[in-house]
Amino acid sequence: MNNLLCVFFRKIRSFFVKTTLIFETLAKIYKYGGVSTYSIAQIEYGNILEGKKILITGGGSGIGYALANKCVTMGASVIITGRDEKKLSEAVLKINNPRLQWLVWDVSDVSITGSRLKSCIELLGGNIDVLVNNAGVIDTTDFLNVSESQWEKVYSTNSKGLFFLTQAVCRFWIDNNKSTKKIINISSQGGFVGATYPYRMSKWDVAGLTMGLGVNLCEKGILVNGIAPGIISTKMQPMTLEQNNNIFSPYNPLKRFALPEEIAELGVFLISDASNFIVGQTIICDGGYSIK
Ligand SMILES: NC(=O)c1ccc[n+]([C@@H]2O[C@H](COP(=O)([O-])OP(=O)(O)OC[C@H]3O[C@@H](n4cnc5c(N)ncnc54)[C@H](OP(=O)(O)O)[C@@H]3O)[C@@H](O)[C@H]2O)c1
Repeated sequence: MNNLLCVFFRKIRSFFVKTTLIFETLAKIYKYGGVSTYSIAQIEYGNILEGKKILITGGGSGIGYALANKCVTMGASVIITGRDEKKLSEAVLKINNPRLQWLVWDVSDVSITGSRLKSCIELLGGNIDVLVNNAGVIDTTDFLNVSESQWEKVYSTNSKGLFFLTQAVCRFWIDNNKSTKKIINISSQGGFVGATYPYRMSKWDVAGLTMGLGVNLCEKGILVNGIAPGIISTKMQPMTLEQNNNIFSPYNPLKRFALPEEIAELGVFLISDASNFIVGQTIICDGGYSIK
């Protein structure tokens, strides 16, 4: 009798667990939209980046973190930077690879660009092969309400900081040029559609600079390319993190957002010598947003 009761209660419990799951999923779909299914793969490039010394700005989280993780796995030595020491040290602990180091460095403070770059080159053993300009901040206040300080906050990191760091690195390379060097600039889908607020304008800057420097510097052995991500599941898009296992997004034709690892995949390709005939291009990876 006792056994029968146990089976009965187990069935009731399992019924309630399943019903709760169904209701939770329905509530999620109601709140966030359809649950997209997706499949992504990661290419095993072996040690394709062996010996490469890479600086990734803003690598403590999101796209920069995913890229740093993939780069050290592929044999590179990497420095990640950012303003938040705790975030950086935790990222390095988590990735747990002896070739990964961090440096506190606010790229919007141009007065420290030279000294931080010197420290970075020292940490990398006297050289640097690749600069990934990934650090960025967002503000989507609409055109009529943007204040000067909002404009400056976005521009000082996304455009000014990127410009002067790139300039400093290129000056170093032109003085010490021995092999092909690379710059990968992270723009945005917003850099390929009309811009009405500073974030998008700054991403146009990035794509424009990529094109200009691409042509200008390739003869000097510096290859400049970029990536324009669409909506990626990082802290910059809090909604995507809140949605948990639901990757639905209504904003692009694919009807989903992407994972930072998908951008890292493209990043490794552009960093590697497999892409050495590509010049001045920003590869758009946005689920069709900018051409819809
Ligand atoms: N997520 C998207 O949907 C999306 C779409 C298109 C483009 N992007 C671009 O992708 C890049 C990476 O963003 P994410 O999505 O990975 O977001 P994220 O996780 O917020 O990463 C941005 C990183 O930039 C760093 N950062 C911000 N200001 C900085 C400064 N002044 N100096 C140095 N580091 C700074 C932050 O670190 P600290 O806080 O430690 O400074 C953070 O680690 C950005 O350029 C962003 O505009 C993202």
